Amino acid sequence: MLQKKNLRSRPIGIFDSGIGGLTVAKAVFNLLPNEDVIYLGDTARLPYGTKSKETVILYSIECMKFLLSKKVKMVVVACNTASSVAVNFLSKITKVPVIGVISPGSKTAVKSTNNKKVGVIGTYGTIKSKSYNKEIRKYSKDVIIFSQPCSLFVQLAEDGWTENRITYLTASEYLKELKKRKIDTLILGCTHYPILKKTISKVIGKNIKLIDSGEETAKEVKIILEERNLLSKRKKKGNHRFFVTDFPNNFKSISERFLGKKINNVKKAKLT
Ligand code: DGL
Repeated sequence: MLQKKNLRSRPIGIFDSGIGGLTVAKAVFNLLPNEDVIYLGDTARLPYGTKSKETVILYSIECMKFLLSKKVKMVVVACNTASSVAVNFLSKITKVPVIGVISPGSKTAVKSTNNKKVGVIGTYGTIKSKSYNKEIRKYSKDVIIFSQPCSLFVQLAEDGWTENRITYLTASEYLKELKKRKIDTLILGCTHYPILKKTISKVIGKNIKLIDSGEETAKEVKIILEERNLLSKRKKKGNHRFFVTDFPNNFKSISERFLGKKINNVKKAKLT
């Protein structure tokens, strides 16, 4: 039996379908600066958002096994698509706590809405799974949820097209139905969407609250580690290690945009 002291000093594991999950990692780094973190991006098999549920579950199991082999104390599923379909399976096959981004984002949206009309945007996989709808229902019986897949946002964010005309037009087209519904809260249900926050807000209306699931998840990570007495007691800054299953073109520039700082020490991971 491992002592709590040893468990506490273990890293937090975070995985995503690619590098978008670095937005979630960034939120964890900011909130828990003394924690060691291991990040895995399954860049060789991105995107998950258009793949079948069965495939995403299989890939997620492989990602989690990789993190467990690095002796993580907790697994954070940063990818909304993987969180939507795989978290329940993952928590059944390990004893370490596993959390996804759906529950924290949903809870915050329910707290934030005044008119009880919430919008959700995400990949096809996330929207099709109705994961946000199911989770929001757990916290409120009367919130009405309107959803919209916005798959092109992923590529726009990766290309760094955050505020140009094309992005504005694309967002206007995707969000026009949600605008008509008079939502007062919008969940950014995809790792990439916080990168487009400014344009999304301009299009949907500055008074609409945008919920960044990544930031909410970081808060939940802290709560869970606190509850289980697993927060690191270290005083110095944590060590961050990055693994990817492939080095795509422009990897470094895209990663640094998502992370908001220089990224070094990225290694190739072999999943089994
Ligand atoms: N990480 C995915 C998500 O948050 C977006 C990219 C993909 O489709 O894999 O749903």
